[in-house]
Amino acid sequence: MIKLKVCLLTCAFMIKLSFTMLSTHFKCRGGIYPRSNVERFPVPDEKVIWNSEYKQYQPQNYTEASLYGKPWADPDIGNSNFCPKWNAVDGKVSRVSYMGPYQIINGYPQNPIGRTGICGRGILGRWGPNHAADPVVTRWKRFDSGKIVIDEHNRPILQFVAIKRGDTGEWALPGGMVDPGEKVSATAVREFQEEAINSLVMSEEEKKAWAQKFHEFFNEGEIVYKGYVDDRRNTDNAWMETIAYNFHDDNGTIVGALKLHAGDDAVGVRWVDATPNISLYASHDVILKEVLKKRLT
Ligand SMILES: *[C@@H]1O[C@H](CO)[C@@H](O)[C@H](O)[C@H]1NC(C)=O
Ligand SMILES: *[C@@H]1O[C@H](CO)[C@@H](O)[C@H](O)[C@H]1NC(C)=O
Ligand SMILES: *[C@@H]1O[C@H](CO)[C@@H](O)[C@H](O)[C@H]1NC(C)=O
Repeated sequence: MIKLKVCLLTCAFMIKLSFTMLSTHFKCRGGIYPRSNVERFPVPDEKVIWNSEYKQYQPQNYTEASLYGKPWADPDIGNSNFCPKWNAVDGKVSRVSYMGPYQIINGYPQNPIGRTGICGRGILGRWGPNHAADPVVTRWKRFDSGKIVIDEHNRPILQFVAIKRGDTGEWALPGGMVDPGEKVSATAVREFQEEAINSLVMSEEEKKAWAQKFHEFFNEGEIVYKGYVDDRRNTDNAWMETIAYNFHDDNGTIVGALKLHAGDDAVGVRWVDATPNISLYASHDVILKEVLKKRLT
């Protein structure tokens, strides 16, 4: 209830889709920050929003050493070679948040949702928003005969392409970071091809044939979510945002015809039944719920 209230206060102006995901900072609050031994400063529900006074708040300042010098990562704030244009498209890097203009406090962008218990950039490359794209590729579950499988409530079952993440072992959408200058819709398609198709055992000719077929299919994506992501990597000064596209193969004849096997591999790709109670990486379950709403109502 409190989380809902926080959300209502901070985000009453947000579009409806974003709203669902904004009851956030569940996954990026408390505990140990990923790939580190840095403990987040505790942030109770009512202290998430910045407007709520929290005098004792002393988050650790953490930026992973490996980020320094990486071409895809920003330099430190204060570095004389680094003059970012906040809330703007800065050369090829978009520093625009889907959540609206964010604040710059003492030179540092401020997380639009609130406190995370850690400051610095953590393991994220960019200060402020880090943009990703997530493709949700769906089909109806079918018998070998092609007939659609119906559940106990007499409804068809939606399936989506999921990958098993190597780092956490959770099922996830095959998304990824937007490259500088890349169109976000192109990222979604590229990530799907890289993560899902390339994992399949196929000859180069077969892959080419598929790429041809996919071209048209991937032109028809619909945006199902655009906004902040409750991601474990988020900090007070750097956070994930995404656009999720649904690519739906109603007849099951294009991408739907792909036989994806997980095999015995820890890291696999597969068609997973979309149930409302499914648990996925980061906010991917919230994205999936939007797709379910769209396809089943
Ligand atoms: C965080 O640490 C970095 C490098 O260690 C330093 O340059 C920066 O000033 C610190 N930021 C804050 C807000 O203390
Ligand atoms: C898919 O089904 C629709 C009707 O539901 C039909 O109009 C369309 O031609 C079919 N597409 C393919 C590729 O079979
Ligand atoms: C989700 O609910 C279905 C029944 O609707 C159940 O069969 C399934 O085990 C549940 N899955 C999880 C992950 O809880």
